[in-house]
Amino acid sequence: MFKKLKNKNQSEADGTHSDLDLHNIPEHIAIIMDGNGRWAKKRKMPRIKGHYEGMQTIKKITRAANDIGVKYLTLYAFSTENWSRPEQEVNYIMNLPVNFLKTFLPELIERNVKVETIGFTDDLPASTMKAINHAKEKTAQNDGLKLIFAINYGGRAEITDSVRRMFDDMIERGQNSSDITEETINDYLMTSQYPDPELLIRTSGEQRISNFLIWQISYSEFIFDQKLWPDFDEDELKNCIKIYQKRQRRFGGLI
Ligand code: FPP
Repeated sequence: MFKKLKNKNQSEADGTHSDLDLHNIPEHIAIIMDGNGRWAKKRKMPRIKGHYEGMQTIKKITRAANDIGVKYLTLYAFSTENWSRPEQEVNYIMNLPVNFLKTFLPELIERNVKVETIGFTDDLPASTMKAINHAKEKTAQNDGLKLIFAINYGGRAEITDSVRRMFDDMIERGQNSSDITEETINDYLMTSQYPDPELLIRTSGEQRISNFLIWQISYSEFIFDQKLWPDFDEDELKNCIKIYQKRQRRFGGLI
């Protein structure tokens, strides 16, 4: 069922996304998946049910992004600050990648998606890392959409860690501060292999960045979508891309 999508631009092939400008699809979309707790609360359900539904939304959005032709999808799954949540909730979120990959890895493989992570993954539970490393291994040869989970990720911690490593290397090479450029810093970031996101979406109506990709989103277009993450779907992703396509990106210059 999934095989026919592999290595094929479904959008152009069948015109499914004809309302989108297929020549102006963001190469990299980053998403702050917010609103799981409120989704559950509205239904008088425990917060973890919201996270479970949020995981199901990740499957839908991965399929849609891949079909539309997005190349990089970075999802904020767990921040360096999220450890302060109740232990039961943290444990549940930490087990979600295991559940997600158990149920979705075969499809990711079939769809030519490559699983990657950014964040301080050494601090994650062994079972979480085992599932993620297995998925990375199984999708290592895939060259379609890169599905990048930001787990135990924080932008300030990333920059601090990068600058420390850069500083150590510079001492070793006998360099001084004038050798530092924006590119040098960029090369030490966890995202050094990825282009900056053209589009950042945050669901649930909150208008904050919450320490996500703070260096990389300098020139991104922001969309604060009203939908709670479990309610976000393919059509809403397409709406966001349509809004993005109407924006004029000037990068500080004039048009
Ligand atoms: C924010 O909603 C969501 C999170 C902190 C967790 C997001 C995690 C997932 C969607 C699942 C991750 C799964 C994989 C496969 C990595 P919130 O709890 O802050 O919602 P609220 O603001 O309404 O309380």
